[in-house]
Amino acid sequence: MWTLRSLLGLRCAAGRAMSQGPTRRPRPPKDPLRHLRTREKRGPSWVPGGPNTVYLQVVAAGGRDAGAALYVFSEFNRYLFNCGEGIQRLMQEHKLKVSRLDNIFLTRMHWSNVGGLCGMILTLKETGVPKCVLSGPPQLEKYLEAIKIFSGPLKGIDLAVRPHSAPEYQDETMTVFQVPVYSEQVNGKQQLARSAERLSPEPSPDPGPAEGEQYLVDGVGQKMHGRDPSLVVAFVCKLHMKKGNFLVLKAKELGLPVGTAAIAPIIAAVKDGKSITFEGREILPEEICTAPDPRVTFVVVECPDEGFIQPLCENATFRSFQGKAEAPVALVVHMTPEHVLLDSRYQQWMERFGPDTQHLVLNEHCESVHNLRSHKIQTQLSLIHPGIFPPLASLRPQEGGLAPCVPLVRGQCLLKYQLRPRREWQRDAIMTCDPEEFIAEALELPNFQESVQEYRKTVQDGPAPAEKRSRYPEVVFLGTGSAIPMKIRNVSSTLINISSDASLLLDCGEGTFGQLCRHYGDEVDQLLGTLAAVFVSHLHADHHTGLLNILLQRERALVSLGKPCHPLLVVAPTQLRAWLQQYHTQCQPLLHHVSIIPAKCLQKGAEVSNPKVERLISLLLETCGLEEFQTCLVRHCKHAFGCALVHTSGWKVVYSGDTMPCEALVQMGKDATLLIHEATLEDGLEEEAVEKTHSTTSQAIGVGMRMNAGFIVLNHFSQRYAKIPLFSPDFNEKVGIAFDHMKVRDRWGRAGGVGGAETLSIHAQVARLGPLPSTTGTGPSIESLLEAPSVPRVTSSELLHKLGRQCPPPVWSSWACPHHWAWGCPGSARLGLT
Ligand SMILES: *[C@@H]1O[C@H](CO)[C@@H](O)[C@H](O)[C@H]1NC(C)=O
Ligand SMILES: *[C@@H]1O[C@H](CO)[C@@H](O)[C@H](O)[C@H]1NC(C)=O
Ligand SMILES: *[C@@H]1O[C@H](CO)[C@@H](O)[C@H](O)[C@H]1NC(C)=O
Ligand SMILES: [Zn+2]
Ligand SMILES: [Zn+2]
Repeated sequence: MWTLRSLLGLRCAAGRAMSQGPTRRPRPPKDPLRHLRTREKRGPSWVPGGPNTVYLQVVAAGGRDAGAALYVFSEFNRYLFNCGEGIQRLMQEHKLKVSRLDNIFLTRMHWSNVGGLCGMILTLKETGVPKCVLSGPPQLEKYLEAIKIFSGPLKGIDLAVRPHSAPEYQDETMTVFQVPVYSEQVNGKQQLARSAERLSPEPSPDPGPAEGEQYLVDGVGQKMHGRDPSLVVAFVCKLHMKKGNFLVLKAKELGLPVGTAAIAPIIAAVKDGKSITFEGREILPEEICTAPDPRVTFVVVECPDEGFIQPLCENATFRSFQGKAEAPVALVVHMTPEHVLLDSRYQQWMERFGPDTQHLVLNEHCESVHNLRSHKIQTQLSLIHPGIFPPLASLRPQEGGLAPCVPLVRGQCLLKYQLRPRREWQRDAIMTCDPEEFIAEALELPNFQESVQEYRKTVQDGPAPAEKRSRYPEVVFLGTGSAIPMKIRNVSSTLINISSDASLLLDCGEGTFGQLCRHYGDEVDQLLGTLAAVFVSHLHADHHTGLLNILLQRERALVSLGKPCHPLLVVAPTQLRAWLQQYHTQCQPLLHHVSIIPAKCLQKGAEVSNPKVERLISLLLETCGLEEFQTCLVRHCKHAFGCALVHTSGWKVVYSGDTMPCEALVQMGKDATLLIHEATLEDGLEEEAVEKTHSTTSQAIGVGMRMNAGFIVLNHFSQRYAKIPLFSPDFNEKVGIAFDHMKVRDRWGRAGGVGGAETLSIHAQVARLGPLPSTTGTGPSIESLLEAPSVPRVTSSELLHKLGRQCPPPVWSSWACPHHWAWGCPGSARLGLT
């Protein structure tokens, strides 16, 4: 049997990888105060000499799955403009250093700009950044307060908000002016929002506290609450002049007293552009000094809709930078949707900056691929089994109808514009996603094609497909890692496709919407249209922070599909409400998008006295075609639930959430068709599993066996396993490992042409090996996936290295700890994982 041998091989390899895992100490932070010290040395009277090197770099190009974000670098400072969901992760992936990121600028209080702040702040804190200032809309202050409440004390990092009304900000690199722009359509917009609310069948079906519904009555109360959708803040950033360099050799030639104290005033004078008189002779500054680099300016502006066009075009501050300005505008960054960009008033405004100004557009028409690696892996895997590993959708940039009247460049991830030393576009860091190349690379592997054929044959030779009873449930794993998103695994989220017009999500970690975009591409709106419910197992950030975006995007999708907007059913611990409420009150209205069914009301034998909740429960069962939706408390933190869904057609899917082995789950899940169970840790780490209230691989399998589950898929792997989790001797043909974007079907389904009860076990064989090399690079590769049980062959490590490049171990292993938005989670500060 190949299994034993390769399992043994694997265990060693992985064991080696692991030995760094548990024992690895958090890296000592690099001296974070280094640059502050330098500043102090210079003393308060130090006059900025202007930076030598400054560039802007696109972190996220504005596509739907990643928002728009821009990183600005100088040798003195780092800045970030906007920080949507997943930005922290993208920066980490692309090695954009956050160690001096002490200023974050936000153009608008919208989830697409602030959704990643919480993670970013924790990362900054972890890196040792002593202070970070957020500039932008005044609501930021409240938002920051909310973050502090939820993420626990943020000791060690000083956070402040610089509202747009504050005086301009100045540091070693530049001076930043905040320009508020108020929409002229405020009233119209509110009308729209209200009519959308009227469309919903039940205006406030939420059984929550009355304050939660105040917004319905009180449309104008928005401003009172500090939430003001009519404001965007633009940033005008003026680089300091860079003084010329003193030419020592020339000075010596002229006989100047180089090397003595007398030279200092001379240097100062010529750097300031003044002539000097030396021994009766006038010396011009250009004789001993290079020309200064003048001030240049860049502008970052978001213009989210037509209502902002006129105010923006008329704004006096911008006018003063258009045409002949003291500091010419080198670049304007437009975080502006295409339809606004096409408006003739907007185009004229762009033109007014003059022919020497470059324009960078970050919007939905930009290239959407921000992570080559997962595209590459998925492209290669789909060669083996396109049903289980469907190719990812790359939302192709649409052809813009834009006739550029100005020098205009569309954003791409990592595209740079350098302002100093030379003004130019730099494209060397941009990645190109070429599926052909990925395929060619795989095909070049020795024996690859033969192995694929052999595998396909094994699959075909399998038992004949059973009668085609049902294509459901179809399970799409969107996030299969724990704690924080990493390169290979994003955080918890699983989609259950129940019928052609109903689906539901089990958990909803940060970035869930982005994963849906990458999986479904342009179909994502249709999918959101069928989304009937979300189950949130517990309130740890890796399970629920993606919910806000799902709510907002779903509403957008329903509007664009012309469907009525009804609230999304969310089964969750009641504590979720407080979190939603906070965001609703301070930032963006969204409570009308959601109806919460307290998870405790679905426990066996629970008495539901609230008729509203009762109604919601019947609605839930009806829309999903379920006979039963049951929850039970699991052993993780306070208010943590698992669930079991029993469909009218007979299938039963059970989901553990995060938990230690749990008897209640075993009872609830009896005879499940499919169990999705967490397996955060490898076997041998039972103690750590208890401490962190998670399960090991064998414990999870044990639960499934006792449950008599038809099939078990493991997920929620610790991110310390950079690639694949460890295998346990308990693995059998009923056990599979989940990967992001893996799709499996019910045993009667016909995924990828495989039928009968074997479908899932073939998935298991694929999944069991794992497409991804382990941390040391000696784990199984895509190639070894093809080793069907009948082909006992150990892959040479040379091959293994081919596809699997080294992946750095997770940097923030201790990061997850404060990332708990813990609600009375016992000892949560001790828990390293969620
Ligand atoms: C996880 O999410 C990030 C965006 O946050 C994305 O770039 C990446 O491709 C995703 N990874 C996988 C394996 O889907
Ligand atoms: C234009 O800018 C000024 C200051 O920069 C600001 O006070 C004003 O409100 C802006 N005008 C509009 C119409 O938004
Ligand atoms: C659910 O499955 C059906 C049948 O395979 C398919 O048509 C539909 O698009 C799927 N929906 C989702 C959300 O995947
Ligand atoms: Zn978790
Ligand atoms: Zn958890």
